[in-house]
Amino acid sequence: MTTSTTTTNVTVCDHPIVQYYLTRLRDYQTPSCDFRRIANHMSRALVYEAMRDLVTRAAGVETPLGPAKGVVLSDYVVIAPILRAGLVLAEAAQEIIPPNARVYHVGLKRDEQTLQAISYYAKLPDRLPADCKVYVLDPMLATGGSAIAAISLFHALHVTQVHLVSFLAAPEGIKKVHEQFPDVKITTASIDSHLNEHGFIVPGLGDAGDRIFGT
Ligand code: PRP
Repeated sequence: MTTSTTTTNVTVCDHPIVQYYLTRLRDYQTPSCDFRRIANHMSRALVYEAMRDLVTRAAGVETPLGPAKGVVLSDYVVIAPILRAGLVLAEAAQEIIPPNARVYHVGLKRDEQTLQAISYYAKLPDRLPADCKVYVLDPMLATGGSAIAAISLFHALHVTQVHLVSFLAAPEGIKKVHEQFPDVKITTASIDSHLNEHGFIVPGLGDAGDRIFGT
């Protein structure tokens, strides 16, 4: 469905429609109701792209005209949205992936002064299958603090296959995540220029959470 360019564990989805969505999301004149709708479309496209790495196994299917070859998805899939803004990606992911995917929410808030990620909620199981695939969802990868905090929770459960999905990423955040977790795959629609002195992605799209929820 999508096209992409991939360097080491980073995929930038350059599909024209994704880039159009991103342009609409960047536009400060896009109102919250449109932002949420476009963010949902963008989320679907990026989740499709990120889930290229899902494993299938052969399974037959009967069409109205007879037997055909088909597949079933065989991975144990975990969706981990980082609250709040990651909810838009989780909603889209749940609509498009098999119903047996598990959703575990991670509540993190970035302190506006220190830019440190503060944990306020984590609904995780005691254990997960070692070979499960975890998709950590957050529209913004800025300093990387939130992503690292979320990934660390799954590493503590001995999960090794973690994939981070974001609308936008700052080079600083990608570097920081890969310094700590080099195997984590990242799928994004753009690697932006830099972070400003307040830790905002430039040019970015502003505060995704505020724009999604109209706050
Ligand atoms: C934003 C964003 C990420 C985080 C990115 O969330 O949605 O979760 O900041 O920054 P980082 O890479 O520097 O950690 P915010 O803390 O504003 O919370 P919200 O989603 O509730 O708006």
